[in-house]
Amino acid sequence: MFNTGISEKEHDEARQGEALMLEIDAEKTVSRKLYIESYGCQMNFSDSEIVASIMLDNGFETTKDYKQADVVFINTCSIRENAEQRVRNRLKEFGAAKKSNPGMTIGVLGCMAERLKSKFLEEEKLVDVVVGPDAYRDLPNLIDQVDDGARAVNVLLSREETYADISPVRLNSNGITAFISIMRGCDNMCSFCVVPFTRGRERSRDVHSILDEARQLFAEGYKEVTLLGQNVDSYKWTDETTGEHVNFARLLELVALVDPKLRVRFSTSHPKDITDEVLYVIAKYDNICNYIHLPVQSGSSRVLDIMNRTYDRDWYMDRVNAIRRIIPNCAISTDVISGFCTETEEEHQETLSMMEFVKYDYAYMFAYSERPGTLAAKRYPDDIPEEVKKRRHTEVMNLQREHSHYRLQQQVGKEHVVLIEGLSKKSDQDFCGRNDQNAMVVFPKAGEFKPGDYVTVLAEYCTTATLIGRII
Ligand code: SAH
Ligand code: SF4
Ligand code: F3S
Repeated sequence: MFNTGISEKEHDEARQGEALMLEIDAEKTVSRKLYIESYGCQMNFSDSEIVASIMLDNGFETTKDYKQADVVFINTCSIRENAEQRVRNRLKEFGAAKKSNPGMTIGVLGCMAERLKSKFLEEEKLVDVVVGPDAYRDLPNLIDQVDDGARAVNVLLSREETYADISPVRLNSNGITAFISIMRGCDNMCSFCVVPFTRGRERSRDVHSILDEARQLFAEGYKEVTLLGQNVDSYKWTDETTGEHVNFARLLELVALVDPKLRVRFSTSHPKDITDEVLYVIAKYDNICNYIHLPVQSGSSRVLDIMNRTYDRDWYMDRVNAIRRIIPNCAISTDVISGFCTETEEEHQETLSMMEFVKYDYAYMFAYSERPGTLAAKRYPDDIPEEVKKRRHTEVMNLQREHSHYRLQQQVGKEHVVLIEGLSKKSDQDFCGRNDQNAMVVFPKAGEFKPGDYVTVLAEYCTTATLIGRII
């Protein structure tokens, strides 16, 4: 049963209009089709599952073909200019479909909706509804407004909304791995970043609802959950009945205790906040994966300072040393921005030397893209020429390719416990899955093993991004 996602007070108000609702419900017995496409970070993909749940409760079913849909939602990202450009291009395609199917409603959700608000309706004539990340409970009402011939906007941000009571509908799920949002928003003010403006203030979700969701997933056969937040280390919840303060270390432990066969991952850790306490919890529980995404952004203390990351190079290196000391086998990945305002060649070299120091298993790498309204846009000139940004970005990518390969090679010849996620993309005779360190492992099917099983795989060699082996 899907949760209706509305409060008791709203229920009462709804009952007053029951006679009217019955008529509308009768109309809605023929379910309408919803298509939803997501861009950006895992939080956005996770939000789309909440949106699907709200819509299903209101007479919609999902479709994988946007041309067949009555309602098309695009859940958008504003993090870099090219992320927004991709959305605009995709909207053109939806717009073309709408011309041959004029009854189609097009909705823009997520961070771009929040950033541009009603301006979106002026700029994109084919868009009917614009909804920010904290306003999804209002979607059925907004769709009703569109049905009545209006165009609708709700971009109110909330200090409380966590959608804690809504059971997400798992979209495009492999039935084995799932995301659980543990918090929303962000209170850090990294000067390059648009997220605090598009997602609002940081708030943590009720620990009980997180644990219930993890238990439910495990009962349904899921074997891995990833706890999501922009800065998971600042998770905090006070249990009103027991008075217990739950921080991220404790939350991680509680989720790990749901079942030893449920793997736990999490993202993103902020270098300023990740504590030794968290590292000891990771080390203590076998089912908490030895993998930390710890975005560095830059290796230069001066650049980190104007990025407002509130740590410096030494602090970051100390955190990496703590990880290596407490969890010797831990994989580390990162995010790197090249060509941030005023970055000198030497400072870029410091980023490369930081990469040499850590030898990241994996990295997400970007050229700086100025975002309107951010602190950096207001305070600093976006003064690194495009070709210099690109060159530095390429140098970072080339170095990372070496390090990724080096880290994979270190894992060749070793045995890995792999959670089978499904068939390999290249062959239906092979399974794929991840090891504890988050490396992708491909190996031939054998015996009775099936997706969702844990198997021990001997890694025999590696390609650029994958370990290849066999079950032993
Ligand atoms: N909360 C996470 C990051 C979320 S955004 C954290 O604090 O690490 C994901 C990544 O996008 C960031 O880590 C950063 O590397 C990149 N990013 C954010 N804003 C950017 C911008 N304006 N230009 C280029 N990359 C950016
Ligand atoms: Fe953006 Fe910084 Fe918040 Fe991450 S921690 S979402 S980079 S403001
Ligand atoms: Fe993008 Fe919003 Fe996530 S800007 S990265 S979708 S929080």
